[in-house]
Amino acid sequence: MSTDRVRPSSRLAGFYQRPLDERVATIAALADGGGLSPESAAWLRGGGGLDVATADRMSENVIGTAGLPLALALNLRVNQLDHLVPMAVEEPSVVAAASAAARLVRLSGGFTGDADPPIMTAQIHVDGVRDATGAEMILREHGRELCAIGDRAIPRMVARGGGCRDASCRVLDAASGAVVVELGIDVGDAMGANMVDTVAEAVAPRIAELLGGEVALRILSNLALRRKARARAEVSAEALGGAACADGVVRASRFAELDVARAATHNKGIMNGIDAAAVALGQDWRAIEAGAHAFAALGVGGYRPLATWRRTASGVVGTIELPMAVGTVGGGTRAPGVRAALELCNVSGARELAVVLAAVGLASNLAALRALSGEGIQRGHMKLHARRLDESAARVGVKEHP
Ligand code: MEV
Repeated sequence: MSTDRVRPSSRLAGFYQRPLDERVATIAALADGGGLSPESAAWLRGGGGLDVATADRMSENVIGTAGLPLALALNLRVNQLDHLVPMAVEEPSVVAAASAAARLVRLSGGFTGDADPPIMTAQIHVDGVRDATGAEMILREHGRELCAIGDRAIPRMVARGGGCRDASCRVLDAASGAVVVELGIDVGDAMGANMVDTVAEAVAPRIAELLGGEVALRILSNLALRRKARARAEVSAEALGGAACADGVVRASRFAELDVARAATHNKGIMNGIDAAAVALGQDWRAIEAGAHAFAALGVGGYRPLATWRRTASGVVGTIELPMAVGTVGGGTRAPGVRAALELCNVSGARELAVVLAAVGLASNLAALRALSGEGIQRGHMKLHARRLDESAARVGVKEHP
C-alpha cells in the first residue's frame, strides 16, 4: 500500500488461463516496475502463506496453520483508478464472478463511490443512573472534558490528526436508569478497535462520577454507522446480454427488496466478495459482517438488501451502502502477506479501501443476480466443481472421475 507506488492495470487479459507459476511470476514482476515491494514479491515467489512460528505469536494454542487459496479479482476500476483485489476464499467462482462483473462495469467507466470520515463509536454502558433523562444534559456540558480524557489515552492517534470528536448520551431504559454514553473517535487509517476500547475504558471512571450509577460495558460498537462506504455502477443492457438480462437483474433486486428470506441470500452474495477480500487484506471480517447485517436490519420494513438495481434507458444502475470499518495500518495488517495484498490493492488509505470493498460487494452481487436471473448458478459452479474433481483425481493418480 502506498500512494507513490506505480498503479498496475487490473485488466490482465487471459490471466486465468495461464499456469500458476506464470501467474505468480507476472504479479511478482510488478516489483520491477515499482508496483510491488521486493519483500512482497519474494513472499509471493515463495508461495505466500504463514509460517507456523509466526502463527504461534499471533494466537494461543497454535498447532499449525490453515490454508486458503489466495487469488486476484481483476478488472476493478473505482473512481478512475485500477485495483487488483486479493481474495482468500474456499468457495469456487467468487473470484471469477467478481472479476467478470467488474469487467462489465469497466465497460461503462467503472465504479464510483465514496466513504465517510473514519469515525468509530465507543460505548460506555451505565446502569442505575438516578436521573437518566438529566444525563443527556450532563453529557452536553462535559462532552469536551470527556473527549480530552479520551485523547490523553491515545496520544499517537491525536498526533496523527485523529482523536475524540464528540460525546453524547442515549437513555435506554429510564425506569432502571440504563444509559449509554457514546464517544465518536476519528481513527484515521486504522480499523481502530483497540483505540476505541482504550478510550471507552479511559473515560468510564469520569462518566461514573458525572452520572452516578454503575458502569458496565466499555467497548466499541460494530455498527459503524458514521463510517459507511458507498459504490455505484452502471452497466449497459448490451453488456449484460440484452434487455431481458437487464430486466432480470432488476427483478432479482426487487425480489430481495420484498422478501427477507431472499434478502439474506442476496446479502450473502455481496459478502462473498467483501469477506474474501477482507480476509486477504488482513481486515476484521467478523466486524464487517456484524456491521453489514445490523445496518441491513435498520430499514423501515426490517432486514433489507444492501445493494439494489434499477433499470435505466440503456441498462441498469446499482448502488450499495454499508458500514465499512477497515484499516490500512495496525491490527491484522501487520500479518505476513497482508502487506503484499495491500500493495496489490493499491489504496492510499482506509477510506479508499472502504470504497474498493463496497465496489467488490456490488460486483459480486451483480454477478450473482445476472447468473440467477439467467441460466442459474449451478452450471458455472458445476464447471468449476468438475475442474476441482479433475485436479484432485490427478493428484491421487485417478484417471477419470464418475
Ligand atoms: C452463493 O455463495 C451466493 C448466491 O447465493 C448469492 C445470491 O443468491 O444472490 C449465489
